[in-house]
Amino acid sequence: MKNLKGKLAKWLQNAKRSEIRELLKLLGDPSIISLGGGFPDPNFFPVKEIQEITNEILANKPELALQYCTTEGMEELRNQLVSMCQRQGMQISKENVIVTSGGQAGLDLLGKMFIDVGDTIICELPSYLGAIQAFKMFGANLIGIKMDKDGMIVSELRSKLEDLRTENRLPKFIYLVPDFQNPSGVTMSLERREEIISLSREFGEISIVEDSPYREISFGIEMPPTMFSLAPDIVINLGTLSKIVLPGFRIGWMIAGEDIIKAAVMVKQSTDLCTSPFTQLITAKFIEKYLPFHLSKLREVYQEKRDCIMDEMILQMPKGVSWNNPDGGLFTFVYLPDGMDAAEVLKKAIKNGVAFVPGSAFHCDGSGKNTMRINFSFSSQKNLGLAIERLAKTINEF
Ligand SMILES: Cc1ncc(COP(=O)(O)O)c(C=O)c1O
Repeated sequence: MKNLKGKLAKWLQNAKRSEIRELLKLLGDPSIISLGGGFPDPNFFPVKEIQEITNEILANKPELALQYCTTEGMEELRNQLVSMCQRQGMQISKENVIVTSGGQAGLDLLGKMFIDVGDTIICELPSYLGAIQAFKMFGANLIGIKMDKDGMIVSELRSKLEDLRTENRLPKFIYLVPDFQNPSGVTMSLERREEIISLSREFGEISIVEDSPYREISFGIEMPPTMFSLAPDIVINLGTLSKIVLPGFRIGWMIAGEDIIKAAVMVKQSTDLCTSPFTQLITAKFIEKYLPFHLSKLREVYQEKRDCIMDEMILQMPKGVSWNNPDGGLFTFVYLPDGMDAAEVLKKAIKNGVAFVPGSAFHCDGSGKNTMRINFSFSSQKNLGLAIERLAKTINEF
């Protein structure tokens, strides 16, 4: 189209393409081992179970599965989600649930609901790239707060909130990925969760968005409670099926107070009317029949892969390189020596047959140039070993 750029909405004219999405294209090239995307291992997609449930639904409920459904989602799935959340200590009913088209649509929904151009949003440094992008699209001014091994550093958050209060720009919400964070793999301690909630109350009940796709993929540790269960009046919780079962159905959910869910329904109506009832019904049955068994298998497999990648890094990585050892999830985060640029390393790494995501993509302020995100869920153990060997060799070349 002629002069397309000038015709696009202003926010889109200067938007950059996602580095992750660009990288995912590399997955098609068999000579490159990708540690880049956040892909689950397709060998553990429950194909047989999905086939069985699909046949059953098409035989018994085609008029529901293939029709439109309510915007908040199918009763069958919302009821299953309520039970799942209750098992996590979240006291909710189905009025607190809206089904979304994947976790990403939940972030977009929140952006539409809460963000006016110029609004402040606080996130972790680093944070999930897809959230940074979604919130920026609505004109948010993102401020990152550094993390350590226990999550967001509370003294830094306090000092930033004090500055923002003086400038009359307190954030609309604080966005957190407290469980096995994407990208760092860090889990926020209970103490930090409580401190951040208490800070939010002190500064006038700032909402907290708790985005938690990885919580169920834990490697034998006891998890701190969800932030929602600690403060249901100020926390909005987001979940997704993508990492714990499969991403292809595009099923996610938002858990929040009834007033927020009502507002979300209004906004979602203008986006997609409803999430696919067909995949909602299959998901509901899968959760009911198979999820606990499936999760225990997944935890075992991913823990083995985590162990494999940790062993390989100890063996292969040059001195001066360090990394996080996550207790769950799909990612570890690697720190190169100061001054080394992971984006430059990536260019060479691709030539050497391995890809990752440079960590700066996850830093809303562009910092973190010497960091990289490594995914360990997608590749086989053999390929993980080979990938780390290639990566270590590439880093050595610097
Ligand atoms: C923290 C976080 N939130 C949301 C999403 C998006 O999930 P979905 O694939 O269900 O849209 C991801 C995916 O990687 C994620 O890591």
